[in-house]
Amino acid sequence: MNPVHADFFAGGAGAERTLRGNLAAFDRLRIVPRVLRATGDRDLRTTLFGAGLATPILVAPTAFHLLAHPGGEAATAQGAAAAGTVMVVSMAATQPVEVIARAGGPLWFQLYPQPDPGFTASVVKRAEAAGCRALVVTVDSPVFGRRERDLRNGFTELPAGLVCENMRDDTGRVRDIAMDATAGWDRIGWLRTVTGLPILLKGVLHPADARLAVEHGVDGLIVSNHGGRQLDGAIATIDALPAVAEAVAKRIPVLVDGGIRRGTDVLIALARGADAVLVGRPVLDALAAGGATAVRDRLRELTAELDHAMALAGARRPDDLTPDLVAVAG
Ligand code: FNR
Repeated sequence: MNPVHADFFAGGAGAERTLRGNLAAFDRLRIVPRVLRATGDRDLRTTLFGAGLATPILVAPTAFHLLAHPGGEAATAQGAAAAGTVMVVSMAATQPVEVIARAGGPLWFQLYPQPDPGFTASVVKRAEAAGCRALVVTVDSPVFGRRERDLRNGFTELPAGLVCENMRDDTGRVRDIAMDATAGWDRIGWLRTVTGLPILLKGVLHPADARLAVEHGVDGLIVSNHGGRQLDGAIATIDALPAVAEAVAKRIPVLVDGGIRRGTDVLIALARGADAVLVGRPVLDALAAGGATAVRDRLRELTAELDHAMALAGARRPDDLTPDLVAVAG
């Protein structure tokens, strides 16, 4: 891969403290297994918003898949579908959502709320018409993160021929994705008038925001710091998760992403209160290495690792994973 693009995928904001912190936080946690639980074969099936998935490991929304592989987002969708899970399509996808939907599914669609309500509504309608089953509203990006690798590399726009295909308006013109620092909770109420899809907020870290989200009728939360690409210095997601899960008290699904690289990381996230997890860079790395097949295999590998870890920890189903199974290393 072009090293400038590799830096775009791997990098984070600022000094990359949060990027490293997401991984380091898992290193400080240990599993306290149970024994003689007679789990037999494990059952990893997971239901989210009425849809059954083979695994609680989903594909996080990430931008510009055509920079990683000529199959682009369609290859990722094919791999996710073969692994029996959801792909969240990024608003910054380099292929049209209709093309991605033909390659795989189930899909959810990620949205950065745009300042132009008419255009935002048209993007949501388009995702809905393509068959996306939930809307993931990214709320950790009122402004762009300062990604110093990209600034150093001068990576400010896509190479010729590539565009954010889902940013086309009725005239066929491709709009830039705007970050909107004027968005407040009323924006979520407005989105509710535009779509009947379940609405998840992605990028919640504070338990007070989790409570507000429930009060505003949000259908799900993703505890996320954008893989360390927005606010450098933000808390590691696996450290933020317990307080968010407690605030939500099982009223809506809570998902988490950031630094999940092993089945044991998934186990810890589920034990700390997540209903499911998402992975970003592991999927991008697989896509770059081998397209749809490699994406499928990477997701299956993570799922097999989770299954194995659950057997060793005495859990038959994700629901058997409870906070007492995780300790902070001394
Ligand atoms: C992202 N992420 C992201 N999130 C989002 O809501 N919309 C987007 O377009 C993107 N784009 C994007 C590009 C790249 C290259 C990366 C690495 C990440 C964030 C992503 O959804 C997720 O929060 C993190 O990737 C999770 O962390 P890990 O699994 O990469 O450690």
